[in-house]
Amino acid sequence: MTVVLGIETSCDETAAAVVDDRFAVRSSVVESSIDQHRAFGGVVPELAGRAHLHTISEVVLRALSEAGLDPLAPQIDAVAVTSGPGLVGSLLVGLSAAKGYALAWDIPFVGVNHLEGHLFAPLLENPEMKWPVLTLLVSGGHSALVLHESPGVHRVLGETIDDAAGEAYDKVARWLGLGYPGGPVIDKLAQGGDRSALKLPVSMTGATLDLSFSGLKTAVVRASEKFPDVALADVAAAFQSAVAEQLLRKTRQALDEYDVAGVALAGGVAANSALRAGMAELAEQRGLECHLPSFANCTDNAAMIAAAGLYRFMHDGPSAHELGATPNWSLSQLS
Ligand code: KG4
Ligand code: ZN
Repeated sequence: MTVVLGIETSCDETAAAVVDDRFAVRSSVVESSIDQHRAFGGVVPELAGRAHLHTISEVVLRALSEAGLDPLAPQIDAVAVTSGPGLVGSLLVGLSAAKGYALAWDIPFVGVNHLEGHLFAPLLENPEMKWPVLTLLVSGGHSALVLHESPGVHRVLGETIDDAAGEAYDKVARWLGLGYPGGPVIDKLAQGGDRSALKLPVSMTGATLDLSFSGLKTAVVRASEKFPDVALADVAAAFQSAVAEQLLRKTRQALDEYDVAGVALAGGVAANSALRAGMAELAEQRGLECHLPSFANCTDNAAMIAAAGLYRFMHDGPSAHELGATPNWSLSQLS
């Protein structure tokens, strides 16, 4: 059996996890520096990098001991680490740590694409899932529809041409004075609001499977300036409904074009209540398996990195020790 230690430090989460080749998660530890960033309305790269440096050793030790391993000589076969995309200073902390552990324990290490990690998250909760799967990957930095033929074999069908879905949530929340991160706050507010109180444009009605959230974000800001009496909960509900509507429409369009056995959500926005309900309904209508990972597997964690690392290690072998960080590494480049 192959056992991998995963390390994730691409943004504000410092995470480590131990996963085996049956995709069983033996431990998963996540610490976040988000409290340090709230006041700035977004992640401050230098603060994030320093926080990783401060926390990484303790997080790795906890992941090893929670998996029942000896931290000095753990029985693991490889270290998998996010090498991009992400904040360069943050990525370098994880990469340096992974290289150090690999040298100390005399085992290989493998660089992992963070977005491919997100694609593996649904698999951690259902290793027996049927393939192919259409995955809607929606996070703070990326949004894409991905045809996932089998673990590790995937193709980007469409992606955002401007903002990511989570980025739009965060920017709208900031403008409305709701704090950071915006997704969870808007989601909660929206549940008590009336979406028909504000009319918003429908974006990306064309034939491509690309997405766009920048126009919608601007439209919400303009509309709430123009109609200041509309309640905040109604603004949130109108915005949330427009985001979910676009994402679900593009998913439906992709399902008309490609034959799949299931649909999956991945990334932080996969925690969204409207999106989860819409995706479950769509899967039922089409007779497909529906994979909605738990909140812990939607947001950044190291178990998904270990899972993707297992695949990469077994198929491509270890990475060279010179491997650097790739801050703008897209999923299309990988597939
Ligand atoms: O995947 P993630 O943890 O980090 C990135 O790789 O970007 O995603 C974070 C994003 C943030 O933009 C946050 O506002 C959004 O996920 N988010 C949500 C919800 N929970 C988190 N967006 C909408 N509804 C939610 N419930
Ligand atoms: Zn992420």
